[in-house]
Amino acid sequence: MSEDVSRRDLLKQSAVAAALSAGPAVMQSSAQNNRLKVGWIATGMRGAHVMNQMYLLSKDNVEVTHVCDTYKGNLAKGKDIVQTNGKNTPKTSVDYRDVINDPNVDVVFICSPEHLHHPMAMAALKAKKHIYLEKPIGHTIEEGAEIVALAEKMGTVVQIGTQNRSNKLYIQAKKMVEDGYIGEVHYTRAFWYRNFDQTVDPAKGVPAAWRYIIPGDASSETADWKRFLESAEHKNIPFSKERYFQWRNYWDYSGGISTDLLVHQTDISNFVVGGLIKTELPTSCMASGGVYQWGGKDDREVPDTLSALYEYPNKFHLNYSCFFGNDQWGYGEEFMGQKGTIEVKDRQNLYFTPQPKFIRNVKAFSDKPAVSMNYLKDFNQPDSTADHVRNFLMAVLGKEKAIAPARAGQIAAIPGHMATQSVRAKKAVFWDAKLNKLKIG
Ligand SMILES: NC(=O)c1ccc[n+]([C@@H]2O[C@H](COP(=O)([O-])OP(=O)(O)OC[C@H]3O[C@@H](n4cnc5c(N)ncnc54)[C@H](O)[C@@H]3O)[C@@H](O)[C@H]2O)c1
Repeated sequence: MSEDVSRRDLLKQSAVAAALSAGPAVMQSSAQNNRLKVGWIATGMRGAHVMNQMYLLSKDNVEVTHVCDTYKGNLAKGKDIVQTNGKNTPKTSVDYRDVINDPNVDVVFICSPEHLHHPMAMAALKAKKHIYLEKPIGHTIEEGAEIVALAEKMGTVVQIGTQNRSNKLYIQAKKMVEDGYIGEVHYTRAFWYRNFDQTVDPAKGVPAAWRYIIPGDASSETADWKRFLESAEHKNIPFSKERYFQWRNYWDYSGGISTDLLVHQTDISNFVVGGLIKTELPTSCMASGGVYQWGGKDDREVPDTLSALYEYPNKFHLNYSCFFGNDQWGYGEEFMGQKGTIEVKDRQNLYFTPQPKFIRNVKAFSDKPAVSMNYLKDFNQPDSTADHVRNFLMAVLGKEKAIAPARAGQIAAIPGHMATQSVRAKKAVFWDAKLNKLKIG
């Protein structure tokens, strides 16, 4: 045996050993071939997108053996993505337990509505699977805490779908903050603004916030209402296409803006400035808002207008706002230090602007020059989800560390739940870090 071959074998063996030690559920054959057997739960809008992104960068590391979805149209769509990209035919099922209970499955992707994250993640972790779990980690703080505890007990790899952490613009922003570009950080402004065309045909487009297209064949025959309601608070509601396909509008299945959108931004704020402010969770949140733009005949329950103010220990303040009736300012985070500002806008551009803007005839407070970077031009990264999924798969194979583990997902989600509780109770809420508990008012 040549030296090269034996070295290669050794490297391969150590990769296998690393993969096996990464968690209990990776099959030796999967680790040896660097090809994981994947079970997929839910192929709706996000599930289909994440799956396509997985094939884009990690095709050679996966074989999707199972697809599960409770709506026939999306189950067929999921199967089709696998057949087109993976050139194999997965087993299909409406029961997620079929995916989880198959001993050959190494990793499970969970892209279901928010209220179903907990039962699915807990079952998958109990079966010792590695999981990619969409955000928010849970529908409540308690659910998220249980997922973190079980994930850490099992030693499996968990990646939460907070893909901004894999976005090279935010990785750059974090580095710049740590390199002193903006100086001390006490204040961050984060926002997400959207608007909709009310005149659009609802069968062809989205005429109001979160009123996504309901498929023409949607019925209790094609969508399994009972399984959708498995972990919902109210189970005696008759089949509703709106609740099934537009679940974000209802408290039973979603926290609305706070857990659907805001969690991405509390997460990335922690990621970018957390190292400097040395704190992760707010001590208080005061949120307000309501259904202002898209109410009327619409039976939505969650606000379309929300502002939330957070106080963190170590003198850090996060100012968050979201409105669904005007998209002038888009999506962004502004990390504002006394020496300068780093803005990440629409997850596509990064700007650094030294301070000050209005004080005349003074030298810039920062010795760093202004910076402008673009996600395509400077980083060639069209969608960070592909990298986020790849990081997960590599972590399962023992080659990388997951960038968004369960604990990070819970730290992202707690401020979201705080905003939900605050806006619903119309009171400030307080986080007791010692008891890990929320206090209202
Ligand atoms: N990371 C991101 O940027 C991002 C973006 C969008 C959505 N998401 C998250 O992805 C998840 C899904 O959102 P979406 O927009 O795809 O919703 P969706 O309604 O389009 O898809 C949900 C899918 O789950 C299926 N489903 C419902 N109950 C099920 C059950 N019991 N078993 C199996 N399948 C079931 C539905 O049939 C549907 O296909 C949510 O957690 C959401 O917060 C994340």
